[in-house]
Amino acid sequence: MQRVSIPHFFVSICLALWLALAAFGAQAAEPDARTVPDTMAQRMMACTLCHGAQGRATSSGYFPRIAGKPADYLYNQLLHFRDGRRQNEGMTRLLDNLSDAYLRDIAEHFAGLDLPYPSPQPPAVPADVLARGEALVRQGDAGRDIPACMACHGEALTGVNPAVPGLLGLPRDYLIGQMGAWRTGLRHASPPDCMGQIAKRLSADEVSAAASWLAAQALPASTRPAPASAQPMPLKCGSHAAGVSQ
Ligand code: HEC
Ligand code: HEC
Repeated sequence: MQRVSIPHFFVSICLALWLALAAFGAQAAEPDARTVPDTMAQRMMACTLCHGAQGRATSSGYFPRIAGKPADYLYNQLLHFRDGRRQNEGMTRLLDNLSDAYLRDIAEHFAGLDLPYPSPQPPAVPADVLARGEALVRQGDAGRDIPACMACHGEALTGVNPAVPGLLGLPRDYLIGQMGAWRTGLRHASPPDCMGQIAKRLSADEVSAAASWLAAQALPASTRPAPASAQPMPLKCGSHAAGVSQ
């Protein structure tokens, strides 16, 4: 399974970034005409180095967009990185000493942003592979107990509040990397971890096909997550069922 390594220098600057994040609190105590305003957007500048301006990322490379994702989803991920259910040295170091309440504020800040998306990546795989990917996303594979991705991520694939993320506007390498992390046990969600089950039922070729199709799709006019659904999910998912639980 393809994993994309993160340049080490990013990791090494994280501590400095974390110190910068913490320093903003202290700075706010001494107002000064030259002081940068102590807003959440200003404090979150450290995140934009990797996640792009205001957290909107690009459609290539590896860094995921965070702007506009469902608030509970973002909050759950920040807890997962801090507490070791997701592995990324840079992210973990940055969040190590932050409280649940501050992580909730960070999640609400990014969830509240409604920003334009970058253009999708042109697909680099043959049409039959794209067609296989599209079929998995739209219909799944009932014979193998693989529900359609749309059944949980929303008909428009822009996610469903409060805790299911959208799947459009993410780099193909990132999508493949996450499914790989679930297959190998590097990424966990709150139990029952439905994505872990789904990722293990798909072959590497199927993951690549679905990711290639998803990464090539243009965003719909409204990119906001769909409202919470009364429909039960085709598999039980912990972070969804439990709302904001860990
Ligand atoms: C050194 C680069 C770097 C910095 C700085 C950084 N991140 Fe990340 N972040 C990443 C990478 C890489 C991932 C994906 C990790 C993985 O493979 O799971 C990620 C993932 C995330 C995710 C999960 C996204 C998703 O769709 O599941 C969230 C939320 C997030 N970061 C928030 C933040 C916030 C908030 C900050 C600033 C406080 C920040 N990041 C700073 C590199 C960074
Ligand atoms: C039963 C419901 C369900 C189905 C079906 C489902 N997902 Fe998910 N998916 C989730 C939930 C819930 C999360 C959030 C998990 C977490 O909190 O880490 C998620 C997260 C993801 C993520 C992480 C996104 C990010 O920003 O890091 C990817 C990638 C993903 N799903 C891909 C897929 C694909 C591809 C399919 C279809 C083959 C699929 N999912 C089918 C419920 C589902």
